Amino acid sequence: MGNDVKTWRVGVAGLGTVGGGLIKFLAERPDYAPAGGRVQVTGVSARSRSRKRDVDISQLKWFDDPVALATAEDVDVFVELVGGSDGPAKAAVEAALRAGKPVVTANKALIAEHGRELAELAEQNGVPLLFEAAVMGGTPAVKMVREALVGEHLDSIAGILNGTCNYILTEMEGTGRSFADVLAEAQRLGYAEADPTMDVGGFDAAHKITILAALAFGCAPNYAGAEIEGIEQIELADIRLAHDLGYRIKLIASAEQIDGGVSVRVHPALAPLNHPLAQASGALNALFIEGRRVGRIFVQGPGAGAGPTAAAVAADIADVMTGATRPVFQAMASALQVAPPVEGQQRQIRAYVRLLVKDEPGVIAAISETLAEENVSIDSFLQKPVHDVGGTPIVLTTHATPEPVLLRAIQRIGALPHMLAAPRMIRIARV
Ligand SMILES: NC(=O)c1ccc[n+]([C@@H]2O[C@H](COP(=O)([O-])OP(=O)(O)OC[C@H]3O[C@@H](n4cnc5c(N)ncnc54)[C@H](OP(=O)(O)O)[C@@H]3O)[C@@H](O)[C@H]2O)c1
Repeated sequence: MGNDVKTWRVGVAGLGTVGGGLIKFLAERPDYAPAGGRVQVTGVSARSRSRKRDVDISQLKWFDDPVALATAEDVDVFVELVGGSDGPAKAAVEAALRAGKPVVTANKALIAEHGRELAELAEQNGVPLLFEAAVMGGTPAVKMVREALVGEHLDSIAGILNGTCNYILTEMEGTGRSFADVLAEAQRLGYAEADPTMDVGGFDAAHKITILAALAFGCAPNYAGAEIEGIEQIELADIRLAHDLGYRIKLIASAEQIDGGVSVRVHPALAPLNHPLAQASGALNALFIEGRRVGRIFVQGPGAGAGPTAAAVAADIADVMTGATRPVFQAMASALQVAPPVEGQQRQIRAYVRLLVKDEPGVIAAISETLAEENVSIDSFLQKPVHDVGGTPIVLTTHATPEPVLLRAIQRIGALPHMLAAPRMIRIARV
């Protein structure tokens, strides 16, 4: 008695940035005893046993197969840090849950794409499935929405959830270099993956906002229903013109609940320069949450990296040790439904529109008439020579308009004979 502190035996699959970070965290903190118990890594799994690693795993039992680790006798908690929505990560998480073992993961793709089935499996087997590190790395987001705000009626969430995109946009603005140049440098420095599609295409941010939407609105994660646009098409001209109009372009992930429907979207958007989202620079992540009683909440911090992410995983392990048994999402898995989509007509949007026109009379009148016919009102109008684009750029911003109406008006403007290029439309963030 007295000294019999429980030791929780942890199996860690994946020894990359996050897995290596967790092993290092636990090696540096042998006294880490949240909720009274001790944490001891007993087994690990990765792709290559012989790979040189920054952490010492020589004393840990090695498993070639993460599924075998997930079901090993001497593993009480399974930590999945392999990644990928399917394949070994999913197989191992399912195996652990079926074997009645609590699971902690940082895998947003897995939770966004298979969250409901996995939640059902967890609940059927009476074990927690936790994923704080999956959204905003070390900055609290998942627990904040799922736990601290569970009593609140949330209306919307909007944030910068991909550090790579935020870094690229910040560098483009700061250095005046193109998207392609900055991306190539980010890849050289290791800030962007060799295949950057998940990040720059908006898919990673979409995984994260899908998870937050499910937690906030009590619906099933519905990644397939997310509307996703990345930053590949953002040109330096847009960044500069937006700045002249008092805005900064960010990749914004947002989720809104409107009349029982849920809209989940990722797209570049203009945020006012003095807004905290516009001021979150470099690889920072930031998140706004709007609730009926609490008003607006803003958090900002690191969204990735070994240290912050390992701390979030360690916090989830602590939750397992407390025996917390809340539903994986906001409601029991069996009650989770995919929310109906929000119809375009229900969405009021404001937009920045860049046009490249021939230098000839009648252009502005034709644009104004088209907008007036569609009942789109102009908020600001800028005609400014920009180097290297050819023709005359015209930039306008609109007042709030039902989305399909605005899109139709822009399409009609694009068909006018004065146009030298297709119109470029970027939404203005509703923040
Ligand atoms: N990086 C971040 O800052 C961050 C932040 C938040 C969330 N996450 C999420 O955390 C997870 C891990 O990300 P990461 O950046 O740590 O990835 P990573 O550095 O690429 O590491 C992946 C690890 O998984 C192992 N692995 C790959 N395929 C395997 C297989 N078939 N069987 C067993 N092990 C396998 C790799 O083994 P080898 O080492 O032998 O190649 C490697 O150790 C992902 O879901 C990611 O989305 C990452």
